[in-house]
Amino acid sequence: MKKILVAVPFILALILWSCNPNNDKAKSSSPYDIKVDSLMALMTLEEKIGQLNLPSAGDINTGLAQSTGIIAQIKDGQVGGLFNIRGVEKIRQTQQVAVDESRLGIPLLFAMDVIHGYKTVFPIPLGLSCTWDMDLIERTARIATQEATAEGIVWTFSPMVDIARDPRWGRIAEGSGEDAYLGSEVARAMVRGYQGDDLSANNTMMSCAKHFALYGAAEAGRDYNTVDMSRIRMYNDYLPPFKAAVEEGAGTLMASFNEIDGIPATGSRWLMTELLRDEWGFDGFVVADYTGVTEMIMHGMGDTATVAKLAISAGTDMDMVSEAYVNTLKQSVEDGSLSIEHIDRACRTILKAKYELGLFDDPYRYCDSSRSANEVFTSENRAEARSVAAQSFVLLKNENDILPLKKSGKIALIGPMADNVENMPGTWSVAGDFKTSVSVKMGIERLLGDQVEILHARGSNIYTDPDLEARVSTFGKPTRRDNRPEEVLIKEAVAVAMKADVILAAMGEASESAGESSSLTNIEMPDNQRRLLDALLKTGKPLVLVLFNGRPMALKWEQENVPAILDVWFGGTQAGEAIADVLFGDVNPSGKLTTTFPQNTGQIPLYYNHKMTGRPITDKWFQKFKTNYLDVSNEPVYPFGFGLSYATFDYGDIQLSSTDLSGGAELKVAVEITNSGDRDGKEVIQLYIRDMVGSITRPVKELRDFQKVEFKAGETKTVTFTITPDDLKFYNADLKHDWESGDFEIMVGGNSRDVKSAMVTWTK
Ligand code: NOJ
Repeated sequence: MKKILVAVPFILALILWSCNPNNDKAKSSSPYDIKVDSLMALMTLEEKIGQLNLPSAGDINTGLAQSTGIIAQIKDGQVGGLFNIRGVEKIRQTQQVAVDESRLGIPLLFAMDVIHGYKTVFPIPLGLSCTWDMDLIERTARIATQEATAEGIVWTFSPMVDIARDPRWGRIAEGSGEDAYLGSEVARAMVRGYQGDDLSANNTMMSCAKHFALYGAAEAGRDYNTVDMSRIRMYNDYLPPFKAAVEEGAGTLMASFNEIDGIPATGSRWLMTELLRDEWGFDGFVVADYTGVTEMIMHGMGDTATVAKLAISAGTDMDMVSEAYVNTLKQSVEDGSLSIEHIDRACRTILKAKYELGLFDDPYRYCDSSRSANEVFTSENRAEARSVAAQSFVLLKNENDILPLKKSGKIALIGPMADNVENMPGTWSVAGDFKTSVSVKMGIERLLGDQVEILHARGSNIYTDPDLEARVSTFGKPTRRDNRPEEVLIKEAVAVAMKADVILAAMGEASESAGESSSLTNIEMPDNQRRLLDALLKTGKPLVLVLFNGRPMALKWEQENVPAILDVWFGGTQAGEAIADVLFGDVNPSGKLTTTFPQNTGQIPLYYNHKMTGRPITDKWFQKFKTNYLDVSNEPVYPFGFGLSYATFDYGDIQLSSTDLSGGAELKVAVEITNSGDRDGKEVIQLYIRDMVGSITRPVKELRDFQKVEFKAGETKTVTFTITPDDLKFYNADLKHDWESGDFEIMVGGNSRDVKSAMVTWTK
């Protein structure tokens, strides 16, 4: 009855509004504008502000504060959406409160951090990016969406498209590495995977590109820290993935916690309005990050009312958790210090999203329990997760072809990650249940049964310091610490290793050693694990390091001393099976790094597309009065783009269609590549360009294209790239995106260091 009463004035307002000839909005491109404006005509100021409020239901808590009294607020029209709520029935019931018990019955948005899978968890995003396979990445987002929408989720806080060049920053695990070009491709693939072609379908959800902007450049890699950056670097290196996500139609963006040019992003009108809306044409909404609005008080921007006004007038539409909007904006409008226009604009974009998602047609369209029972964590999805994980692994070293291993004999499986399920899914897998994941031991047992004998010993804890270990065992994960002295653990492991034909050392970081609020000042292998590794190597047995990590680690010692290293990141629910597939050769590794691995922590930031200095070193380190260190060379241990295979790929010289081009001509770059090994394999062929002379200084090389190609054993293929002047563009000193005539070096290779090269001249 109540809904009918509401419907009558609603329809009346709609007719009146649409008959008004002066109404500009009638010409607007969104099919929902009339509906949105008609609904807004019925809303009180409080109800409009209520739509801007995004409390946390408290199922999952990552911040300092929790929202309270949510159900009463929903009834009161004071909530626009909710996150951290799990379970289709719970979501349905909460939606029912909004629809049946609030005055206007406006449905809620239900959000979650579905970052790399839902219940079926895929590798952490950094690992996913190492597949360099955009179809595969899109498919993982699609599967995550299929599962999440079956359980009521309509909005995911993903993709994280922050470029990161500082591996101390734990959140590097959540992104696609250091490169703007690759990061933009991944951003597009993920937005496509989440949103599909029709947002109103019950199996697509709205994406949220985050954290806008520059969050990955936190000083000293310390999470939430200050950022200070030139516009040229921003535009060329940090903003492109956001622009790509916007171009791909991302429905929302999330503000970052850091400041930009002295103003916190949440309150930056330049960022949220001038750049995002006016320059890029974004027409979705911006959500603050967790308590980001009131955190501006601590940044020193004023009291609650002041920071709320700053944020809303900057263009941050929705307030996550801090409740500054619901607590202060009405008063600010009433005392004349805030124009209602800002609230109307924000409310309009949020309501538009709800229409686009189809929630006004059927608020329960994402709450179908039969879908939840049939479409989540299915065997098909898990099979896909297993295959994806195997493709994300990067083979860093394989001396004397230790890998792949024989499917027979005795294997010593040693290390804190050997028989461990809780660290498999990786950071930010909030819907996943780690208890359902497959450990390395389980994976080998499932693949090989009694073909091999597994001898297991833990060998060490993750860290010696129990407090540190507790800090990385968040979200209910047990530490399962072995409190016997280190020497005893090592002795036991060595005794086990002595009985085996080969040692698999499953070691590295805990999954929550990386992720939010997980910065480190030392990115080397934890000391105790290094000592265990050393003792195992001294047995003289062949040894493979199966490395778990959420960030690039400093592996100089390991590269020098360990014969084989397979980087497996945190591979998701099926990690153990995928690891077995690669170790025993059922899958040939094809992952390539998307971040540079430095020699030590002091070299950070170290990235492939750096600028020249006036004093570059020539061929060798050390040279006095040149740009280098006294104690280590400038080289990384593993460069961007690096990754081995059980096959070997030989690159021929570059063939160019022309060396002298003008205007909008196209350049064809062809390279003959041969798989000279005896196994089929995939290779990621990377094309880099260097602009030799520019109006501003230009990087020594920049990725501009890549192809992942499958080769049969012994097969030769010619791989061709097409380059146009668009690929030569960069943001110049006027922040214009353009290219300049001159000489360009074209490079093609299997990583950013080992490339074939040729020169062209290109004139406007
Ligand atoms: C804080 C994180 O910075 C952000 O990435 C996440 O989406 C929100 N919390 C919500 O959980």
